[in-house]
Amino acid sequence: MNAVTHAGRMVGAGGLVAFPTETVYGLGADAFNERAVARIFSVKKRPRFDPLIVHIASPDQLALVTTGVPDTAKRLIEAFWPGPLTVIVEKSPKVPELVTAGLRGVGVRMPGNQIARDLIAAAQTPIAAPSANSFGGVSPTCADHVRADLGEHVDAIIDGGSCTVGIESTIISCMGPEPVLLRPGGIALEDIEKHVGPVDVPDQNEYKHASPGRIGRHYAPHTPVTLVDACRCPPVGKRTGLLSLRETGIEGAFYRVETLSRSGDLSEAACNLFSALKSLDAPGVDSIMAVRVPNTGLGRAINDRLMRAAKKHDSRVDV
Ligand code: TXA
Ligand code: MG
Repeated sequence: MNAVTHAGRMVGAGGLVAFPTETVYGLGADAFNERAVARIFSVKKRPRFDPLIVHIASPDQLALVTTGVPDTAKRLIEAFWPGPLTVIVEKSPKVPELVTAGLRGVGVRMPGNQIARDLIAAAQTPIAAPSANSFGGVSPTCADHVRADLGEHVDAIIDGGSCTVGIESTIISCMGPEPVLLRPGGIALEDIEKHVGPVDVPDQNEYKHASPGRIGRHYAPHTPVTLVDACRCPPVGKRTGLLSLRETGIEGAFYRVETLSRSGDLSEAACNLFSALKSLDAPGVDSIMAVRVPNTGLGRAINDRLMRAAKKHDSRVDV
């Protein structure tokens, strides 16, 4: 039996399996097994008000988790599945309240990664999965990241190499008359609007009503992060790490440097973001200076993650 089939059986039997997706690694359990889902929350130390995305192997499985799919969601699914898009649609009563944190909508996504879809098929059940990292930390984009953070707490880790998109799925709520962007992610807003027209983009403070997980501090390394509009010289005597899109010309002034994409390609930058943050989060680095990227295409998702990584500790929970 291969590793994926074996892991699928573990999920079917109530286990917790970390698996690759094209966005980030997920920590999965049978979406209908409340006890297994509860273990996800405790392993991640995730508050129970923060709902989980349900992953399916094919659009046919939508019928298992929703009561109906509105037209907007249908158009998005047609255009972007399999891929880094999560739609929020009316939840079926069969989905445990724990999965949706008591909300009326359930987040559903069909991943682009074949291993992820094979795992779901082998488990013979939709898989509820958050990113496979401790709550609030940096999302894992390779199996080693998962091993280092949650290793001994999971039943299996499927190593599928590095994630190709590297930033989480875009989340669109299709619960109201207009689509709403709940999280910028691996599919650019501009591309989504080509298929469904204008999307409502709530102010940061409004997110918490629709998507409880969109709390202040998130994606945060242990080292303090400062977000700046343009690269500047670091404070004298401090060991500062620099995270920037392209080369800046003053690399020599920094203790460590991570350049996300030499050619300024935002998809390449998204793919490298979390690994770069983790490698700057090293012993000896006093602080990280992160330079905002252009706010177009995947740049919107990158800036969102950088902004949350830079929030102060005391804003971790603001709901
Ligand atoms: O790319 C991804 O989406 C990855 C991979 C593993 O699929 N998953 C992921 O899950 O990023 P997580 O749990 O780290 O982030 C999910 C976000 C949270 O902010 C949560 O609040 C929101 O999605 N969410 C999930 N279900 C929701 C729902 N029913 N209504 C509103 N927001 C929801
Ligand atoms: Mg996460």
